[in-house]
Amino acid sequence: MIFETTTIHYNAEVRPAYYRMGVKCGEAFQNASPGQFVMLAAGDGYDPLLPRPFSIHRVRMPEEKVEGVEILYKKVGRGTSRMSLLKRGDPIRILGPLGNGFHIPERPGRIFVVAGGIGVAPLFFLVEKLLTRGTDPNAVYVFIGGRTRDDILCFQEFNRMGVHVVIATDDGSAGDPCLVSQPVEIAAEENPPDLIFSCGPKGMLDCVARMAERLDIACQVSIETDMACGIGACMGCAVNGSEKDRYFHVCTDGPVFDSRRLDWESKTCSTP
Ligand code: FES
Repeated sequence: MIFETTTIHYNAEVRPAYYRMGVKCGEAFQNASPGQFVMLAAGDGYDPLLPRPFSIHRVRMPEEKVEGVEILYKKVGRGTSRMSLLKRGDPIRILGPLGNGFHIPERPGRIFVVAGGIGVAPLFFLVEKLLTRGTDPNAVYVFIGGRTRDDILCFQEFNRMGVHVVIATDDGSAGDPCLVSQPVEIAAEENPPDLIFSCGPKGMLDCVARMAERLDIACQVSIETDMACGIGACMGCAVNGSEKDRYFHVCTDGPVFDSRRLDWESKTCSTP
């Protein structure tokens, strides 16, 4: 597997500190699935910290032919700050699609999708895929949480899809003034879903995973760790499993896991 050099199609700020970047890519992405990721490295000698992993937010396929992948990212440090300055036509290297994505059952039933902050990135792709496969939008409940209203992403896009959307912010500037796990738990206790998909900060995933276990609901989580290679070669992305002496490589065993297979007490089960 090698990095393919391609170019940036667009790179625009969509909310303060949040960017959407479109990267031209080839047919390898035709069958990319939600939850998979790419390693991106921008330009020669652009930044010694790159390459770094990003969830696939969307695969652009006008007329059924793959044209590019889109990532949604937050400017949080030096690497992503410099990345935010890249423009259409700039070179970028891409490796992917990588990892194992969400498993979508034949008949998923009633679904909760729980996103915290930038964790919404792969979940948007997931909901798109669910609806494409014929899931009734009325059976999909999307919960989006963030610190403030500026951290609530994709709200209008989800609304346009016709799914139910609930938002919560820590400071109450949009939606319910609480952690997003609270409305999720209330709704799950009233009428448990058949399946939960989630991605976000570790604290949120921890709450969602424990609630799912208590209510005996199947739950898939997408987690993220620091990754140097993305292909199982560097051993840098190991997280502890729930079974004694069992660990996983997030890049090749995940990044999506059945929540019961992970050790939530472990500090190494970290997410952004
Ligand atoms: Fe290198 Fe997972 S990132 S082994």
